This record gives sequence, C-alpha cells and structure tokens, in this order.
Amino acid sequence: MKRIPDISAYIFGGRGQGKTTLSLALALIHHENVIVWDPSAQFDGYVISYPHELRVWIEADERPRVCVYRPVIDIRGSRSEAHEQFAEMMSVLVNGPNGRPYSDYSVIVDEADNLQGPTARELCAGLNWLMRRSGKWPRHPYGVTVIQNSHALVDFSATVKRLATDIFIVAAENRRDFQQLKEQFGSENLAAHVFNLRQHEVIHLYKSTDDAGRHRWCYSVWPREQSESWHVEPAGARASRLQERSRMDSDDGANQSA
Ligand SMILES: Nc1ncnc2c1ncn2[C@@H]1O[C@H](COP(=O)(O)OP(=O)(O)OP(=O)(O)O)[C@@H](O)[C@H]1O
Ligand SMILES: [Mg+2]
Repeated sequence: MKRIPDISAYIFGGRGQGKTTLSLALALIHHENVIVWDPSAQFDGYVISYPHELRVWIEADERPRVCVYRPVIDIRGSRSEAHEQFAEMMSVLVNGPNGRPYSDYSVIVDEADNLQGPTARELCAGLNWLMRRSGKWPRHPYGVTVIQNSHALVDFSATVKRLATDIFIVAAENRRDFQQLKEQFGSENLAAHVFNLRQHEVIHLYKSTDDAGRHRWCYSVWPREQSESWHVEPAGARASRLQERSRMDSDDGANQSA
C-alpha cells in the first residue's frame, strides 16, 4: 500500500456537520490501526475503557481495525478528569516493546476541547506528545497520525494550531471563528468560503512549500457532491472509501492560497 505522510490535523465546524465521520475516514487511510478517544460515545464497535485492554488490542495478532477508548467516567464536565483519563490511555502508547513507544497508528481525539485551553499549560501532555510525533514522515517511516475534533476554531490551543499540518473545516457557526480565520490566515477569501460551506462539504487547509522553501497554507474545497467518499459511519466496521486524501485536493482544481 502506498504510504501517505502522517498528519497532525484538527477539524472544526457546527453541530452534526460531519466532524466525527470525517475524522474516521481520514484516520483509516493513514494507518491500519485506529485508536479513538471517545468521551461522548459517538463510536460503536470494539469499545474498551482501561489501559490494559488497550495493550491487549495493540499486541494481538489479529484485531479489529478500530479500537474505541471510552473513559470509564463521564469526563465532559471536568478538564482535570479528562486529562487524567487521557494520560491513562497514553501510558500504554508511550510504553511499548523494549520501553519504546508504539507506532504506526492513527489516533482520533473526539471532543478535543476538554484536553486543552487558551494557555499552553492547559494542553494535555499526552496530546502534545502525539502531535510532536506525528506529521514527520518520511523521517519516521511508521509514525503516528492524530486528528482532533471540536466545534470551534477557538477551542484549539495555540500549540495545536502551530503544530498542525492539516486543518479540515465543515460548516462553521461560531462567529468568532470567522474573525480568527481572517487573523490566522490573513485571507478574506477563506473566511468567505467557510461562511458559505454547505452541509457535508469540507475545506482542507494544508501546508505546501514554495520555491524558496517557505511553508504556506493552501486550501481546497471538497464538494458535497463527493461527500459519500468520506462518509464512514463511526461504527468503525467499514473501511474508508476515501482512498487518497490527495485525490480530493487535486480533482476539483480548486486549490487556493490561504
Ligand atoms: N460525508 C457525509 N455524507 C453524508 N452524511 C454524513 C457525512 N458526514 C456525516 N454524515 C452524517 O451526518 C450526521 C452527523 O455526523 P457526525 O456525527 O460525524 O457530525 P459531528 O459534526 O461530529 O456532530 P457533533 O457536532 O454532534 O459532534 C451523521 O448521521 C452522519 O452519518
Ligand atoms: Mg462529533
């Protein structure tokens, strides 16, 4: 299978616009193994709640592709509980064979706002670790992809934004997001595009390198007419029909500088 570079991505947009669904489609094209942090019970399938269960899954010769890690207590109201439970899950991933971290997997962090805040101190250490390990292909041939979901751009910490290689936007509804988009990318065009997104349409922002070796953000719009290709029900049973993310970026010919 042709390998595509790992990503550290975040997805934001309005309620029910397809963030969770898109994150699963993306996670599946990057790695055979997908671990989902699922605090609000969005995923079915192979559900676990304890670190030792995660180790059993990861060490098994044959396993379901998607492992859903659902914290044993409802952590949505408590940031400190969320950090604690996430740290428990991470204690397995950072401690693989011979004391080295496991690799070659995607992690979906659903409802990621609980694991971060406006200041760097509020960013969960395990999430920080994952992001710094991701997006480094080909230097780490079997790396890690991490995809975070939340409703608003303002939910993501400055560190997450700095380390992101890719951003996916579904129809956004938070007024502050449009302002922040303009500030972050200096582009009225992008903000206007986001404002006009239809249901299940996606904007993909990605870093590209110009002739002088400088990184700059570009984006393309994935039209609703093709949205079935990233519609993977979060039951985790079906493989992604989104074979190659890059195909979506080149097919529509709508690539633009942000
Ligand atoms: N690309 C798509 N094509 C068609 N239907 C889709 C697509 N993506 C998502 N859906 C459907 O839209 C509904 C909401 O999707 P999903 O749960 O992924 O949204 P969400 O943005 O994560 O919602 P929430 O804000 O509640 O977390 C689901 O029923 C899902 O099947
Ligand atoms: Mg969701």
